Amino acid sequence: MGTSDTPRGMERSSTDLESTPVKGIVRTPPAAPPRRLRQVLALDDFEIAARRHLPRPIFGYVSGASETNASLRDNRSAFGEFGFVPRVLVDVSKRTQKVELLGRSYAAPFGIAPMGISALSAYRGDLVLARAAGQANIPMVMSGSSLIRLEEVSEANPAAWFQAYLPGEPDRILGLLERVERAGFGTLVLTVDTAVLANRENNVRSGFSTPLRPSLRLAWDGMTRPNWTLNTFLRTLLKHGMPHFENSYATRGAPILAKSVMRDFGAKDHLNWSHLELIRERWKGRLVLKGIMAKEDACIARDSGVDGIVVSNHGGRQLDGAVSPLRVLPAIADAVGDSIPVMMDGGVRRGSDVLKAIALGAKFVFVGRPFVYAAAIGGEAGVSHAINILSTEVSRNMGLLGVNALRDLNPDRLLRLRDSSGGPT
Ligand SMILES: Cc1cc2nc3c(=O)[nH]c(=O)nc-3n(C[C@H](O)[C@H](O)[C@H](O)COP(=O)(O)O)c2cc1C
Repeated sequence: MGTSDTPRGMERSSTDLESTPVKGIVRTPPAAPPRRLRQVLALDDFEIAARRHLPRPIFGYVSGASETNASLRDNRSAFGEFGFVPRVLVDVSKRTQKVELLGRSYAAPFGIAPMGISALSAYRGDLVLARAAGQANIPMVMSGSSLIRLEEVSEANPAAWFQAYLPGEPDRILGLLERVERAGFGTLVLTVDTAVLANRENNVRSGFSTPLRPSLRLAWDGMTRPNWTLNTFLRTLLKHGMPHFENSYATRGAPILAKSVMRDFGAKDHLNWSHLELIRERWKGRLVLKGIMAKEDACIARDSGVDGIVVSNHGGRQLDGAVSPLRVLPAIADAVGDSIPVMMDGGVRRGSDVLKAIALGAKFVFVGRPFVYAAAIGGEAGVSHAINILSTEVSRNMGLLGVNALRDLNPDRLLRLRDSSGGPT
């Protein structure tokens, strides 16, 4: 064992990302990361590298949240309020992080959250995320606010999920559903925490908008990030033309760079549970609601026939001041019981965070920003490296905690350390 305190066996069994192959995808064992990724030891390291690589407005768009960033901060700090109570001398040699979710077996208890405009941060971003997720057998949720046609992503990874923001009018809702179904997606995620547009002051401050408006400042932002400008932006323009919003509706939307074109956000503030009824009637695949924070809504969702929910405050990007999903997770898990899987996202950065969320009632978690940073700086290899880091942490921490299966986790494995004011409870 040398000087390392790593238990025998863990040096090689860094991850257990094996199991069910995704149809149409040849699985290979994770290769050693390319040289430029070797200094990336934790998910947070991707952010440091991405800040140097991405133009200021684009990095600001990904990293930022709304108004004062209070929810963004709370998403992280809530995890720090719990510590583990490990058990020892448990035979953990056969531990597994495999999860059964919505009728499928996944290799790890985390997936890639839907993130809009990923193809602006990374060359062919959505495809890169989809392929790496398919290779690792974890779910990737493709955002509806994306710049690559959903049909292409479904072809690259037939197991990918599709996330939609509901168009305001029933005929547009049905048109979109038909297209998503025709492309072969089996799981539809409806994001329901966007009744009105959020106040993203940080975007205004950093010069980000959709579409981006050509300006001297934007040109300067690009010139100071030549690697991104050449290998992401110009490469995209040359090979694929100007990216457009492709998947908000059944038809093509606005370009990503334009002097005066307006993006069609459409009014959505009238949407309500009756629209969900319409969708549940029409969509025969698995249906997941994302953005649930109240246990009352979780129960209505369950009673409306959805197949799963994601407890989420949109990474702090909608209502500033919304509490961290981790804080409401136990009450929601309690309220819906085993009837439908409760998933969560927001601030998950470590394997220990994944395990805490599961101990507090989550069946599964999603991770957002780090995967887009990984795609930006390392393409598909970067995303695979990120998946591998997180999965390795989950496996190691399960061993150190003394659990063999995720179902063995419960709130008794945690101790509340302090409340949000930082004082002891
Ligand atoms: C750049 C970016 C774009 C996002 N776009 C979408 C989106 O199109 N649809 C959606 O449901 N959520 C979107 N989200 C929210 C994520 O799905 C997820 O809820 C959040 O990022 C999780 O928090 P984390 O980044 O701390 O892991 C976006 C988040 C980011 C960072």
